[in-house]
Amino acid sequence: MRLPRYEQLDLFETEALPPDNGSTFSDPASASNKSLPLHRWVPWIAGFSSEFVHDALSRYLSRPGVVLDPFAGVGTTLIEAVLCGHDAVGFEINPYAALACRVKVDARRVAVDELRSEMKRFHEFYSTASGEPKSTPPEGFKTRAAFFSPQVLQKVLVLQDFIDTIQNPGLQDLFKVAFASTMIQYSNYSYEPSLGRRVSAGKPEIQNFPVGEAILHKLSEAAQDIAWFQANARSDASARVINDSFFAFEDYLSSESVDLVMTSPPYLNNYHYNRNTRPQLYWLGFVKGPEDLKPLETANFGKYWQTVRHLSPIDLDFDLPGTALTDQLKVLRSLNTEKGIYGGSGWANYAASYFNDCYQFAQGLRQVLKAGGVALVVVGNSILQGILIPTDQYFGKIAERAGLELVDIEIPRAVRVGNSIIQSDVRAAKAKQSHRLYEAVVVLRKRLSA
Ligand SMILES: C[S@@+](CC[C@H](N)C(=O)[O-])C[C@H]1O[C@@H](n2cnc3c(N)ncnc32)[C@H](O)[C@@H]1O
Repeated sequence: MRLPRYEQLDLFETEALPPDNGSTFSDPASASNKSLPLHRWVPWIAGFSSEFVHDALSRYLSRPGVVLDPFAGVGTTLIEAVLCGHDAVGFEINPYAALACRVKVDARRVAVDELRSEMKRFHEFYSTASGEPKSTPPEGFKTRAAFFSPQVLQKVLVLQDFIDTIQNPGLQDLFKVAFASTMIQYSNYSYEPSLGRRVSAGKPEIQNFPVGEAILHKLSEAAQDIAWFQANARSDASARVINDSFFAFEDYLSSESVDLVMTSPPYLNNYHYNRNTRPQLYWLGFVKGPEDLKPLETANFGKYWQTVRHLSPIDLDFDLPGTALTDQLKVLRSLNTEKGIYGGSGWANYAASYFNDCYQFAQGLRQVLKAGGVALVVVGNSILQGILIPTDQYFGKIAERAGLELVDIEIPRAVRVGNSIIQSDVRAAKAKQSHRLYEAVVVLRKRLSA
């Protein structure tokens, strides 16, 4: 069974949509990654399950090809592509995610013995450290409450001192990723799933924590995984991680060079990847102040509500005849006008920016795909100000408008994790909304004669 096409939906209806039982894809977001080699290194919101990627790769590519993930996150698609012997290319705008992605795909070249001897050296350095560390916390990183308690901070700074002594850049990056992927655990903040103070979520502050042990634990998992990766990945498959917006694709990719796209762009739920990774971005030195975050925010797929809510009404850059998109945006804009930019007009601007980026993205897909090439795009539907927006169905139509063939829309996941993002950030109507959220795989193809 498949969900009805949007033509058959009452778009202003608030009843639950039926879950789909007949999808041929596995769940794109199962939690199994938490225990799988390499995938377990860095948690990422809305990360793919490796199983979903693996199944889809086997289904759509019968021989080695070029696999692209335009929104690579922490690299699930790229890792699985390389494991299956494909050449992989990923774009990722967030420098922390891009670093994690690169360190993971480059793990094929890490000498495990060398890693183990750096771990041993760290153990000695950390356990014998005395006096004031040379490192200091990133100056521009301001938080409401102390990010680390004093005892934890001292240990983190010793770790930074050690990282500065590592000569091998690949190993240095691995230590950085081990730190960045664990730092929230020993901070006074937590993901709920947006980053907030632990005390606001009813959790006690972390006064002290075995930071060095946490790093060594992470790295010993990494050492095992690297050995596994080296034994299982095809060494001739290439992997390229581009820390830039996919919208700059023409600077990096030739037309008609990609066999399969597998990706999940940010959803229309205003999950703020940049704000939620501020600690990692500052501590890793990618960002020195708010001015460095701005360009990331404006180039982010779909923009953010915060960056467009105050602008004059934003229109769609394209028309989508026969759909309710324009009407939905009009209704959205007319809601809660007494709240000014915090009412419907701000959300209508956000939704219009989002769909404009969908159009630009679809045009990019059409350009980079080889004739006959397929794109699998995982998107979730959304609820904005109480209005159900069938993002997947609109995206499918937008892709057709951009010249791609819409092959299918399948719903492997009827209720998705992360609906609290909608509750906290999008402030939609609270009642029963989790029942109506799903994730869909939009299957597109570039026609042979396009
Ligand atoms: C849903 S996540 C993808 C997660 C990925 N499938 C995984 O398994 O890790 C979407 C990603 O798109 C990235 N992103 C947002 N705008 C982008 C842009 N313009 N170009 C490239 N990446 C972008 C975000 O930083 C985020 O990591």
